[in-house]
Amino acid sequence: MFQTDLLKGRTILITGGGTGLGRAMALRFAELGASLFLVGRREDPLKQTTRDIIAKGARAAWFSADIRDFAAVEKLLDAAEKEFGRPFGGIDTLVNNAAGNFIARTEKLSPNAFNAVVGIVLHGAFHCTLALGRRWIAAKQPGTVLNIVTTYADANCGSGFVVPSACAKAGVLAMTRSLAVEWARHHIRLNAIAPGPFPTEGAFSRLVPSKELEERARNHHPMKRFGRPEELANLAAYLVSEQAGYVNGECVVIDGGEWINGAGEFNHFTDMSDADWDAMEAARKK
Ligand code: COA
Repeated sequence: MFQTDLLKGRTILITGGGTGLGRAMALRFAELGASLFLVGRREDPLKQTTRDIIAKGARAAWFSADIRDFAAVEKLLDAAEKEFGRPFGGIDTLVNNAAGNFIARTEKLSPNAFNAVVGIVLHGAFHCTLALGRRWIAAKQPGTVLNIVTTYADANCGSGFVVPSACAKAGVLAMTRSLAVEWARHHIRLNAIAPGPFPTEGAFSRLVPSKELEERARNHHPMKRFGRPEELANLAAYLVSEQAGYVNGECVVIDGGEWINGAGEFNHFTDMSDADWDAMEAARKK
């Protein structure tokens, strides 16, 4: 799909880069010539993905940090500097991908459960964006931020049973659009991707925790399939690349039409059989 040097010379920090969609993006960006700095809480997946990237012939390093803590984010940029031998590791692209989420009835949640999700998703994304944005502005160098949100992040939509995540992701989208304007004069672009259902271990074990629920979700989907991680990774590669240099403050939905399926008044007619249609048309002619 792309020239193999699309991201040559670029250094990309991905939070939650050891697993799931973060890992898929990391591997794809490496194929396209980028160096990767992977951040997350669990060391084992970070080490494994770093090894896999190096095996492809690209440069990669990892650092374990909890991005809810701003001091930890500052420390991870010091670590990037040591790893790559340049101020803040020469990082020019940030992908805010780390997330926390669980399905729950909201009345059963503790305040700390809300804090846990909002801390990772909203505060974490803000901490990383602030720490790098300050450095890019001080160094007078351009930067790119890609925020992985979700289709229910749109404040006009939201979603029941994932209220902390809906609040946090709506905040990340607001940050994307706000800073896209405020920091455009510093040549910093911010965009977002809103993925629909992508079957990753982290998300599906929490959000679609049984085969029956998975089947129900697939049947409900207009394309009758889930997304493939490489489909999202290719969109991400485009958005962080120079080819998308005039795309700023945008949120691109990648969900196979799932989101708008719920919006159209008559979309549930896709369930009707030919016999149902014949009966309806016959009734209309009367
Ligand atoms: N339902 C309700 N409450 C829950 C919960 C669930 N499934 N899982 C955790 N909580 C609550 C805990 O009870 C705790 O509240 P309390 O202190 O009042 O009891 C609070 O959330 C924090 O839990 P803890 O396990 O200490 O937090 P953590 O920081 O270690 O983990 C999570 C954060 C909860 C978001 C955890 O699921 C996580 O780390 N997820 C990362 C990966 C992920 O979610 N990926 C999905 C992306 S779609």
